[in-house]
Amino acid sequence: MNRDIVLLRAVEVAALATHKYIGRKDKKLIDQAAVEALEVILKNEKDFKLKVVNGEGELDEAPMLYSGQILGDIENPEAKIYDLSVDPVEGTYPAAYNFAGSVAAIAVSRLNTQLQLPEMYMEKLFVSDEFREWIDLKKGIINVIKDMQKFCQRKDLKCIILDKPRHKEIIEELSAIGVIVRMIQDGDVLAAIDVVNGAADFVYGIGGAPEGSLMASLAIASGCKMQSRLVPYQEIWPNEKETKLRMQTENAWIEKHNIDFDTILEDLDLIADERARFFAAGITAGGSLRPIDYKNGKFYVNAFMASHGIARNIKSVYDIKKVNALKPGIKSIFDKYKR
Ligand code: FBP
Repeated sequence: MNRDIVLLRAVEVAALATHKYIGRKDKKLIDQAAVEALEVILKNEKDFKLKVVNGEGELDEAPMLYSGQILGDIENPEAKIYDLSVDPVEGTYPAAYNFAGSVAAIAVSRLNTQLQLPEMYMEKLFVSDEFREWIDLKKGIINVIKDMQKFCQRKDLKCIILDKPRHKEIIEELSAIGVIVRMIQDGDVLAAIDVVNGAADFVYGIGGAPEGSLMASLAIASGCKMQSRLVPYQEIWPNEKETKLRMQTENAWIEKHNIDFDTILEDLDLIADERARFFAAGITAGGSLRPIDYKNGKFYVNAFMASHGIARNIKSVYDIKKVNALKPGIKSIFDKYKR
């Protein structure tokens, strides 16, 4: 079977598995369901292998989709191996509490092209293809946006930004120069999909670094552009109990990778492959992706994929009876995660 269809089905089935737990206020349960679904689908695939680079964590903290795990046709020495970044539920809080923002997402690229990113904060600017030549975080975000406004001769650019106290000032500054700001509670990966789908011009803000890998693959695959910079934990949470420990771990990573908190990372620094592919499926979604739905024996799922400058929005319908008769791997997930 075509590899892209397999990967698309993997995120779709992950989204289906979460359906049972949407709104049940349990982040762990909903994450587990999607993790298991993704692992089951990817483990059983033939003809290719995937190496988890950014997943659920290290083996000692995550029994499934852990960094370094190889999935797929592991017995077959001929099967080509690819790097994988995976977030079975990107936006666990919105998924568990049933508000917009969560998707299942993966990024796939050639072997040894993905940078393993730490659990850390990252400043990210993701712009639509129209503005790819103007992105330059070194200049500071407001100067970049002013350049973009000058270039397209309009001030009312549309921006999506996480509604967090750390963004209060920048939201005011962006509004003051005429930008239309849409605030979201969670889920900057979905916000980047919205940019690709033409619903916004850029996403800006400080969010998670592992999400940066997914967003970078989306930028590369779709013709958009992303730049980023790692942000120290103490800049966001100066007085928390864990700040000291977090800073030790972050500094160790920084030293090892010869990247510091001032380094501007291009999307290709995170995923060094022009042929990177990105796949997602709506869980509670919102924006330009529909949430997962179930009616009379059928799941309705809105998936999205991007590769080679082509972005596709796909509405898939899973007829459970038919799928159960033909696909035992998926049936086990349907049975286990029936609502
Ligand atoms: P999770 O999937 O880990 O729940 O992340 C959701 C998310 O909203 C990301 O989209 C975003 O990058 C990050 O959290 C922001 O982090 P924080 O909630 O700490 O501000």
